[in-house]
Amino acid sequence: MTTYTFSKMTANLRRSEIRELLKLTRRPEIISFAGGLPDPSLFPYDEVAESAERAIRERGDLALQYSPTEGDPFLKEQLVKFMNSQGENVRPENLLIVSSSQQGLDLLSKVFIDPGSPIIVEMPSYVGSLQIFRFFSADFHGIRMDADGVIFEDLEREVKALCAEGRKPRFIYVIPDFQNPSGITMSMERHEKLLKLAHDHDLLIVEDAPYRELRYAGKMLPSLYSMDKENRVVCLKTFSKIFVPGFRIGWVLAPVEIIDKFVMAKQGTDLCTAAFNSITAAYYISMGHLNHLIERAKKLYAQKGKIMLDALEKYMPKDSDIWWSKPEGGMFLWVKLPEYMDAKELFMQAVEQNVAYVIGSAFHWDGSGKNTLRLNYSFPSIDQIDKGVQRLAEVVKKNLRAKVA
Ligand SMILES: Cc1ncc(COP(=O)(O)O)c(C=O)c1O
Repeated sequence: MTTYTFSKMTANLRRSEIRELLKLTRRPEIISFAGGLPDPSLFPYDEVAESAERAIRERGDLALQYSPTEGDPFLKEQLVKFMNSQGENVRPENLLIVSSSQQGLDLLSKVFIDPGSPIIVEMPSYVGSLQIFRFFSADFHGIRMDADGVIFEDLEREVKALCAEGRKPRFIYVIPDFQNPSGITMSMERHEKLLKLAHDHDLLIVEDAPYRELRYAGKMLPSLYSMDKENRVVCLKTFSKIFVPGFRIGWVLAPVEIIDKFVMAKQGTDLCTAAFNSITAAYYISMGHLNHLIERAKKLYAQKGKIMLDALEKYMPKDSDIWWSKPEGGMFLWVKLPEYMDAKELFMQAVEQNVAYVIGSAFHWDGSGKNTLRLNYSFPSIDQIDKGVQRLAEVVKKNLRAKVA
């Protein structure tokens, strides 16, 4: 028998609780609100095939070769144009192509987190970020959210307390647009206050924005990255939700000094992002397809989101302790149940009723949020959404305690 001596850091690796639970949801009769996948009916097969053909025929020498670590120049050029059409003011030197935004999060951790470094995250937050920040032994400070995003007074108090101890947070990590998991958007007032707080305490903000282009209601807000005048925002972007996750392509927008560190860290990770995927994506954008696809996605998710909200309104028991978010874009919606309910216990009952979701505690760094859950509406079909919410509401109803007068 061989004895393996793993690195100390592997002690921070945890088997994902979500994955274990989701194994139970693979039966075909289960309606799953658990995933975070785009609707595959949006996949643009013909246009991708044409773009891939052009990548090989017109730039095959580059597409089949290593690319610069900074990213393929043709894709960078297309992304700069795309980002600037979305209200950003990006220059190529501020943009690094990464192997999807999960790699951006990995590089961020490598470059900014030492064991025990304080960082600030929203509660709840994206599980993939929590996982990689934990791997690097960050010292988490979680700030709760309300319907306008992270609660500013709590954030300010925490920042001040940490700074007073001489433990300035390495960064504040936020997902301002239709957050995964909550579907909540950070208000304009909080965008401004957050930047001001960062200015006052000389802090770095990390803006993770994979859903930003998927706004189907309400008013478009500027990104933190575009509002920042002091080089204190790193913005993570990806094709996964607005184009195809299968390409595994994302990009980081950041001050040159940070990009430079990310490039060096990326060299040790994968040398470069796949040139073939990059050039195919660049042709796809250059032919004007991306904007059309985003329009189609917004229409579809607006329809699906509305069906889910209508179904919740129709089937959920009327109880002042049950609340759900009303997203203006993206793919997710967040449900808060009465404090005494445990979404993990309900999960087993839900699976028996052939419906699944993700338990909210998985999105809290400290495992709190036991009475919360995330519902995805981008992947299930329209018919499934109504039926699934009806089943879920039945489970909630069964667990509801009579209110003591
Ligand atoms: C907030 C957030 N960040 C990052 C990612 C990672 O996306 P990808 O690595 O596919 O670009 C996701 C995926 O769900 C996400 O929701």
